[in-house]
Amino acid sequence: MPGEGISVALIGTGFMGRAHSHAYRNVASMFPECPRPRLKLICGRDRGRAEALAARFGWEEVSTSWEEAVRHAGVDLVDVSVPGALHAPVSIAAARAGKHVLCEKPLANSLEEARAMLAAVRQAGVRHMVQFNYRRVPAVALARQMLDEGQLGTLYHYRARYLQEWGVHPQVRAPWKLDKEQAGSGALGDLGSHMIDLCRYLAGEIREVTGMTETFVKERQATGGSATVRVTVDDAALFLARLDNGALASFETTRLAPGRKNHNFFEINGSRGSLYFDLERLNELNFYSLDDPPGRRGFRNLLATAPQHPYAASWWPDGHLLGWEHSHTHAIRDFLVAIGQGQLPRPNFEDGVKCQAVLDAVARSVASRRWEAVDG
Ligand SMILES: NC(=O)c1ccc[n+]([C@@H]2O[C@H](COP(=O)([O-])OP(=O)(O)OC[C@H]3O[C@@H](n4cnc5c(N)ncnc54)[C@H](O)[C@@H]3O)[C@@H](O)[C@H]2O)c1
Repeated sequence: MPGEGISVALIGTGFMGRAHSHAYRNVASMFPECPRPRLKLICGRDRGRAEALAARFGWEEVSTSWEEAVRHAGVDLVDVSVPGALHAPVSIAAARAGKHVLCEKPLANSLEEARAMLAAVRQAGVRHMVQFNYRRVPAVALARQMLDEGQLGTLYHYRARYLQEWGVHPQVRAPWKLDKEQAGSGALGDLGSHMIDLCRYLAGEIREVTGMTETFVKERQATGGSATVRVTVDDAALFLARLDNGALASFETTRLAPGRKNHNFFEINGSRGSLYFDLERLNELNFYSLDDPPGRRGFRNLLATAPQHPYAASWWPDGHLLGWEHSHTHAIRDFLVAIGQGQLPRPNFEDGVKCQAVLDAVARSVASRRWEAVDG
């Protein structure tokens, strides 16, 4: 490994470019067991923007060519934080250059691309992870622990919603998200992939689905101008699913829900109790237990900030709340630790392919208007 720690090339200078920069900059200071990332290179199409981010976060070098960045001899890890259409070419080139790869979600724009990415990282023998950061919210990781302890008993229902508001506003921030060529799909892949990953993480594998999508607004105004952008992706997607373990699941996602800023919600019902979580209250996990005595039952609100809770001991005293950005820091901590230990973290590209297979089955179901099996 060249130099000290793990040298990173971050491809992308947008929203995730900033969120990941923040994580790399802070992670080893808060998690001393984590190999220190070296902020080697940041790459974006716009040199001025990349230089500004480099100055703000301390990236050593700037590039406008991802092709050169992924081959840089001083780089150990490539972070793919660009629109979906670039996930496969950048990740595959990085793997072939012998770099570990962290790729943003969803892994790809199609199942075929996702499989090619998995084949490339396996062939190269590099470590890989998908940035499904919501697994790393302490309250969500706590839900996983409670499920492992059997506190919900047999699972019956998984109910997920991921609702956002921004689609109702006339101007759009990231026009690429409205273009099928660049994004693969709309709310379905963008937000639906997070819902699917959390379902797989918490409740189990998805066997079959039936879904529907809608594009309510067919044309939109591009950011900072009067040009209109034709919308070629869905605004909203709903689907039902049956899990391998027999549980029934429902999923709803939209970008057109006024008042719902980032409402990533799940509820799980089992034979012994229930859990629910809402990202807009991300420090809290709500738990109802039938093991409580009758007459004393009710949802209790667990604040996942105690030192006993996942990741929390490395931050502040109990009750001093964490934010959305910590989920990215935790995911990047886990990836760097895994690289340091020669382990493969979860969710890795195999999980990314499984998620993509569910997205693919939903899209097939929308077209066929029938139940479709998830291609295992
Ligand atoms: N996990 C999360 O919480 C989360 C949240 C938002 C977005 N994302 C994902 O992160 C990725 C990026 O989304 P974003 O919101 O940061 O988008 P964005 O539009 O804010 O930024 C995209 C960046 O990609 C760069 N880019 C585009 N083409 C390029 C090229 N050819 N070479 C180099 N750079 C290029 C742009 O210059 C820009 O810096 C997407 O895959 C998205 O799905 C994840």
